[in-house]
Amino acid sequence: MPDRVGVLTGGGDCPGLNAVIRAIVRKSISHYNYEIIGFLKGWLGMLEMEYEVLDREKVSGTLHRGGTIIRTSRTNPLKTPNGIELIIDNASKLKLRALIAIGGEDTLGVANKLFERGLNVVGVPKTIDNDLECTDYTFGFDTAVNIAMEAIDRVHTTAESHNRVMVVEVMGRHTGWIALEAGIAGGADVILIPEKPFDIEKVCELIVQRHNRGRDFSIVVVAEGARFRTEQQHEGTLILQDMQKDAFGHVRLGGISNILAKEIEMRTGFESRVVILGHIQRGGSPTAFDRVLATRFGLAAIDLVHNNDFGKMVALRGNKIVAVPISDAVQKLKTISEDLYKDAEVFFG
Ligand code: F6P
Repeated sequence: MPDRVGVLTGGGDCPGLNAVIRAIVRKSISHYNYEIIGFLKGWLGMLEMEYEVLDREKVSGTLHRGGTIIRTSRTNPLKTPNGIELIIDNASKLKLRALIAIGGEDTLGVANKLFERGLNVVGVPKTIDNDLECTDYTFGFDTAVNIAMEAIDRVHTTAESHNRVMVVEVMGRHTGWIALEAGIAGGADVILIPEKPFDIEKVCELIVQRHNRGRDFSIVVVAEGARFRTEQQHEGTLILQDMQKDAFGHVRLGGISNILAKEIEMRTGFESRVVILGHIQRGGSPTAFDRVLATRFGLAAIDLVHNNDFGKMVALRGNKIVAVPISDAVQKLKTISEDLYKDAEVFFG
């Protein structure tokens, strides 16, 4: 009997997940003779013993496909009665040599708890938000940035034709990586990120300045988690879709651009419009960069399993794939530094 290794994808999906799974399966077959089983819908599959064997046939033709062939969910075993015990029990019933968890801060947070309880776990960092610590990049981010950049390019021409202010809202719950990089690449005139609560008057000043110079259109890129600052609320206010929270306690964000565009129009008199990119940033094929990064992560993850190097997450440092303790990666989020934001600010207004 070959040793059995479990794989799961948790949290929001992201282009490149299938490339990771494919790399794990292909190297397992060609180098290690492991049987790979994919748990369906993230931690839910481990709790309910829903899984399928992933062989060469199953992963064939998936490299370029977005989404995840083993599905995902935001199920949180820490909120399920005896969730952690059940998972450990199921892993032992299935005689798992190890579990590879592909996910962001939430999924890897659970993976770390399981490792502390003795499960052989390896992590792979995934999120279009690029906000995981200890890795320069997560896969999926490059795809999201390119989609957002292309949208900004397209919005530019229509903004110019109509002399409008266009507010483009991108994802980014806690950090503004997509907004910042797509904004710089797309030549945005203002970029607003969660790390820097903003003052609406300053935003309007920048736009008026620009229009006074004869550029009578502007592009504002805003991350969904950016916050309005007021005199009473120095830390800023988040704009929520509703008050519902998911199993990890996250509220649903989205819609800040609508308020922003109205305020800009009211305060400057310039006609404004809104584009919310939403899940378009997460769907479809990964870029070449993400396919290669995801593939390298998958290969490194199965190597860690083979070397019994558990409790580690694969990570990109420079151009090298390294292994870091999962506990370090989930301690805090990777946010945008003052210096990086200052670089972007050079082009504001
Ligand atoms: O965590 C990644 C992310 O893309 C966030 O930027 C966003 O707030 C969230 O997922 C939305 O995900 P969903 O609509 O699947 O709950």
